[in-house]
Amino acid sequence: MPTPTRGPRPAAPAAVASAETAASQDSALAELAACFPSDFVWGVATSAFQIEGATREGGRGESIWDRFCRQPGAIADGSDGDVACDHYHRLEQDLDLIASLGVGAYRFSISWPRVQPDGSGAWNETGLDFYERLVDGLLARGIAPWPTLNHWDLPQALQDDGGWGALETVNRFVSYARQINRRIGDRCAAIATHNEPWVIAVLGHQQGIFAPGLRRRAMAMQVAHHLLLSHGQALQALRADGCRAALGIVLNLSAVQAASDDAADLAAARLEDARSLRWYCDPLFHGRYPAEVLDELGSDAPWVGPGDMAAIATPMDFLGVNNYSRTVVSAGTPWDPRAQGMPVTDMGWEICPQALTELLLRLRRDYAPQRLLITENGAAFADPLHDGQVHDDDRVRYLHGHIRAVAEANRQGAEVGGYMAWSLMDNFEWASGYAKRFGLVHVDYATQRRTPKRSALWYRSLLQAWRAAPRQGRG
Ligand code: FCB
Repeated sequence: MPTPTRGPRPAAPAAVASAETAASQDSALAELAACFPSDFVWGVATSAFQIEGATREGGRGESIWDRFCRQPGAIADGSDGDVACDHYHRLEQDLDLIASLGVGAYRFSISWPRVQPDGSGAWNETGLDFYERLVDGLLARGIAPWPTLNHWDLPQALQDDGGWGALETVNRFVSYARQINRRIGDRCAAIATHNEPWVIAVLGHQQGIFAPGLRRRAMAMQVAHHLLLSHGQALQALRADGCRAALGIVLNLSAVQAASDDAADLAAARLEDARSLRWYCDPLFHGRYPAEVLDELGSDAPWVGPGDMAAIATPMDFLGVNNYSRTVVSAGTPWDPRAQGMPVTDMGWEICPQALTELLLRLRRDYAPQRLLITENGAAFADPLHDGQVHDDDRVRYLHGHIRAVAEANRQGAEVGGYMAWSLMDNFEWASGYAKRFGLVHVDYATQRRTPKRSALWYRSLLQAWRAAPRQGRG
């Protein structure tokens, strides 16, 4: 009998080694793909202000982000959304790009000032027509449209009248929602009312680092309440109008963990969880605000009208979750992932996929949403273009880790029905300007040339493997 070889295997010749790596990557992909049922929704996401450009064309009115970008120092690189990815002029080409990824869904947002320049009064046919062409172009390519009505770009004219702090904006939003439903609702798979109300309220009205750049906590909390109220009222109005699209909201949520088992850290984490997650989920699913936050707010608590809480709790068809990281809370010095040696993205956000599994299981357990989906997940990295290619292996690892975390949540019963990567392409990353790149597709802003990164090819391969995956009894 020959003596079995001991120690490390001799290195295979380079070609064989790379074929072996490719084969093992293929099988890892096939294994991951097979975790997801055949009705799972795979998509990519964008938002209007971040990609469209053409801010003064086609009858579009001014939005609060146009105005905010002009404030000195508001945007890290002094940029704005005037051109962005020039998507408004490149619709057909971008539709082909989306289709080339093999996704079944596209999440985008409608720019309210493009379809109703002042947020009240006349509708802008040119703007409405743009979104009709977008929706029809998606359907023609076999892709389900998932519009969001408010991804932050409120018409400036409404801001001048008090913005989301004013109850009248709630009425205006409901009439805008009804108009969008009349024009495209019959062809949309789902409609989300708002994107990330916490960001609008807290970053926009309390910290002042996003539009409209205000710094008043009482105002921020009233804004949060009006966003939730307008969501509930819009759902009721759209259903009364016979809308058949699935209706829901998109929240930015993360697992909130204490930095240590210290009683003070645990208490601080519980409060932060109540402020950031329960302030939104408790009213939407249980019709009440968390008492500890109301206590903390005192006279800064929002004014709540009769019937508001019942309207907010109108049952929804889906909850969309945007998740990028976890939140670690310490009662003392703020927790810094870098100082702890944790991996971070270009935004400084910690990479911790297990926390996504924890979050999804908690949402299923505490709120039992009708449908639960990831509506954004992704990462910013430097992404240099070399010889016409972007080898964003760090993004591939990020996506792989987080999609595996979704699969693990589902294995434990979270029933997550979809995943949308943020973002289709590099775009205007709000106060960070164009320096932070989140795209699966690289954008050269000087030429508007789009180059799919390695992550785009990886995502396409995953979806191919998912379509080919053997399934038992799942169609
Ligand atoms: C989310 C936003 C999205 C994008 C990502 C990185 O909070 O919804 O527009 O900026 O962050």
